[in-house]
Amino acid sequence: MANEDCEGAAARVLLCVCGGIAAYKAVEVLRLLQRAGCTVRVASTEGALRFVGAATWEGLTHEPLATSLFDDATSAIPHIELSGWAEVVLVMPATANVMAKMAMGMADDLVSATLLAVPEATPIVVAPAMNVHMWKAAATQANVSVLMARGARFVMPVSGRLACNDVGEGKLASVECIADAVLAQLGATSCESLAETGREVQEAREAEAGTRMGTLPFSSVVVTAGPTHEAIDPVRYIANRSSGKMGFAIAEEAARRGAEVTLVAGPVSLPTPQGVRRVDVVSAAEMHDATVAAFANSDVAICAAAVADYTPAHPADHKLKKGREQLDAIELVQTADILAELCASKNDGGKRRFVVGFAAETHDLLNNAQAKLERKGCDLIAANDVSRSDSGFGSDTNRVTLLSPAGAEALPTLSKAEVAARLVDRIAKDFVSYVR
Ligand code: CTP
Repeated sequence: MANEDCEGAAARVLLCVCGGIAAYKAVEVLRLLQRAGCTVRVASTEGALRFVGAATWEGLTHEPLATSLFDDATSAIPHIELSGWAEVVLVMPATANVMAKMAMGMADDLVSATLLAVPEATPIVVAPAMNVHMWKAAATQANVSVLMARGARFVMPVSGRLACNDVGEGKLASVECIADAVLAQLGATSCESLAETGREVQEAREAEAGTRMGTLPFSSVVVTAGPTHEAIDPVRYIANRSSGKMGFAIAEEAARRGAEVTLVAGPVSLPTPQGVRRVDVVSAAEMHDATVAAFANSDVAICAAAVADYTPAHPADHKLKKGREQLDAIELVQTADILAELCASKNDGGKRRFVVGFAAETHDLLNNAQAKLERKGCDLIAANDVSRSDSGFGSDTNRVTLLSPAGAEALPTLSKAEVAARLVDRIAKDFVSYVR
C-alpha cells in the first residue's frame, strides 16, 4: 500500500506531472511524500509521458495512471474526481505552457482541466522548471504573478546549469524543498502522524547536511530597505549612503522560499525582486507608516533600512534662497524609531512576531550592536562594520555578526545574497523555538 504509514487518515496529494526533462524528479518527490505518510495520486500530461512512463507511476502508486479526459480507467469524470479528492495539488515540473493555461483558465487536457476544477480552498503548489529565457520571458513572469495573486504557492526555480546547457535561473528547486512545501500546506489539515513525520524528515535532513530550510516556518514578512530622504525644501534633502542592496536581497530570499514579502523601500533604483510586494517611500515618516501597516499582517519584520534619525523640523515649501533666507542652520527633530516601535508592539493582539534589526557601526561593533539589541528589544540583530570596504553601504558583499539573546554567530565576508540566505536560515531556526 502506498499509504500504509497513515492508513485511513493519510493526507491526499495530487501530483500533476508536466512535460519537462525534470519530470523524473517528480518520482523522487512522490517517494518523499509517501514516506511522510501521504497518499499520492498522479495525473500526467501526454508530454510528460515521454519523460516518465505510466508503468513507473502505476508501480509506485498502485493505481492506474490518469492521463486523459476521456476513456480514462480511473473515473468517468476524472478531472472532477481528482480535483475534489486532493487536499493539496502539486504541479511539477510546471512548464511555461501549463502555467499559461492555468493563468488563462484553459482546460484542454486532463491536467489543465483538473487544475481549473480545484476548489478554491485547496492549495496548489507550483514548482516551475524550464530554460532561462522561457522563465524570464515577460509572458511567463506575468503568468507567475497572476497565479501568485490568486494564491498559488510557488517553489521558485534556482540558478544553475540547465538541461539545455544554458546557465541561469530555471532549474527545478530541490526535491526536498518541493516536498517540504507540500507538507507545509498539509500541516494544518493532515493527521498528527503526518505532521510529525514531515517534521522529523525535515529535522533529520537539516541535521544531516546542515542544509538550508526549504520551507519557512512563517508565512509573511515585512522588510525595510534603503535610505530615507528628509526634505529641507523641495530640492534639498538629508540622506545617507545606503544602497538598499542588503534589504532587497533579504526580500528576494524570503520570497524565493515561499514567504509573502512586503518590501518597504526607500529611494533606490533597484529592480523589485520577483514575487515581492513593494511599497516605495521617501521619508522616515512614510517608511514608518508603511512598515507599521504591513507589520499588522506579518509574522516577521526585518529592518535593514538606514532610516534617518533626524528630519528638518520645518521643511520649506519653496526653494530656500541663500541671499535672503537662513541656510546656515537647520532645526532638526528626531524621527520615530521604527524598529523599536515594532519590538514594543510585537506581542500585541495575542500574536508572537519576530523582529530583526541591523546595527551599522563604524567602531566597537559588538558592544554597540549588543546595546542596540537590548535597548530596542529585538529578537536578533545583524551587526555590520560599515567602515570596511567589503562590508556595508554600496558594497556587494557584507560581513555580519548575528547577535541574539542566545549568543553571537560571526559570518565570514559573503555576497549580500548569501548573507540574506544565512540570515533567513537563522530567523527560520529561531522562529520555531520563539513561537513554541
Ligand atoms: N531604525 C529604525 N528607525 C529609525 C532608526 C533606525 O527602524 N528611525 C532601525 C534600522 O533599520 C536598523 C536599526 O534600527 O535596523 C539600527 O539602526 P542604526 O542606524 O544602526 O542605529 P540607530 O538606532 O540609528 O542608533 P545610532 O545612530 O545611535 O547608531
